[in-house]
Amino acid sequence: MTRPIYLAEDTITQPELTDLSDWMLAGNRLTKSEETLRFEEEFAAWMGSRHAIYVNSGSSANLLMIYALKELGRLKTMRAIAPAVSWVTTVSPLMQFGFDTKLCDCDQDTLGLDLEHLEALCKEHRPSLLILVHVLGHANNLTEIRRICDKYGVIILEDSCEALGSEYQGAKLGSHGTAGSFSFYYGHHISTIEGGMVVTDDYDLYQIMLSLRSHGWSRDLAPERREALTSEHSVDAFRNLYTFYYAGFNLRSTDLQARLGRSQLKKLDAITVARQRNFDLYRDGLREFFVQSSKAEPLSSFAYGTLVENRLEVFEHLKAQDIECRPLICGNIARHPFWLAANGPAVLPNADAVHDLGIYLPNHHNLDTEDVQRTIRTFQEVARPVSFPDTAGG
Ligand SMILES: Cc1ncc(COP(=O)(O)O)c(C=O)c1O
Repeated sequence: MTRPIYLAEDTITQPELTDLSDWMLAGNRLTKSEETLRFEEEFAAWMGSRHAIYVNSGSSANLLMIYALKELGRLKTMRAIAPAVSWVTTVSPLMQFGFDTKLCDCDQDTLGLDLEHLEALCKEHRPSLLILVHVLGHANNLTEIRRICDKYGVIILEDSCEALGSEYQGAKLGSHGTAGSFSFYYGHHISTIEGGMVVTDDYDLYQIMLSLRSHGWSRDLAPERREALTSEHSVDAFRNLYTFYYAGFNLRSTDLQARLGRSQLKKLDAITVARQRNFDLYRDGLREFFVQSSKAEPLSSFAYGTLVENRLEVFEHLKAQDIECRPLICGNIARHPFWLAANGPAVLPNADAVHDLGIYLPNHHNLDTEDVQRTIRTFQEVARPVSFPDTAGG
């Protein structure tokens, strides 16, 4: 009997759940307590970032870092660029906060931002903000993106929700821009059931995110920041407990989830190794198919993305053999009803090809060589390789 091959399997083990239940039964405080602070400290150290803020999802992490930049007054215009190949909650906060948002096409190697299109968009629209996505763990061409963004004065945010553990030029993805976001949803590299994180080296941004995460109050801020606010607004210590300085949210997670996060963090390097090994097996076994390539080293692959001519047939065939697969994330955001309703269609040839032909195969820490080989064999039984059409740029 072969076992089902799922897209993801839990990283939380039975002993970790036992530890968690013992810890809960010991009467520890389950939210707004020490475990969250420790998880944040450990995560920031692992990332090589100065600060980390734990939130309840990767989507919340995106929302928080975007809104914090706006609230801090860092953005000189309300114009932003987001990738066409991304995720709904990479783009939707920009729309919700009223940014004039332009989508950038993907390139044909990394499926990250197409540099020519990025530069053209910067030139024409003069955005103040770029949020990029490291698609399925592959690094964007960050050197060139930084050059373009410096030239046009654009702040870079990295949605690294699919790239936890990948590095570019010796630094973790998520630590190259002004801030980076991560997801700890069940299907990601590590799980806190639901959860997310923002990392940044920017102290002002960090402080305002601490407030925005919790209603816009000052309680979680560094003492000198709290005192500055109370004295500026003439608020006494009692009144301060319920004084709201910013139009905040509640994006907090819980301490029991942070405790899970701390145990997952210890395994993250080994998870990266397993995901890289599986990616290499796929690449070697599927040489006739499109393969994403980037300068991520190590590559903490999220899943194996490729292009096929007969996607529905491949999907049905894999499903019949108990192997899961998915479209290559969103395909093209501009083809989704929420975007079309607000903005109408856009010309994005490479993202269109990903939309019509893209598929991803499972990669997770529990897949061994035989699981990957079986997936490759089953895939090859029906899949017909295809490249980016000539009409697509690149
Ligand atoms: C690129 C990207 N950004 C954001 C998210 C959202 O993360 P979450 O599901 O934790 O909200 C995802 C989820 O898969 C994602 O792939």
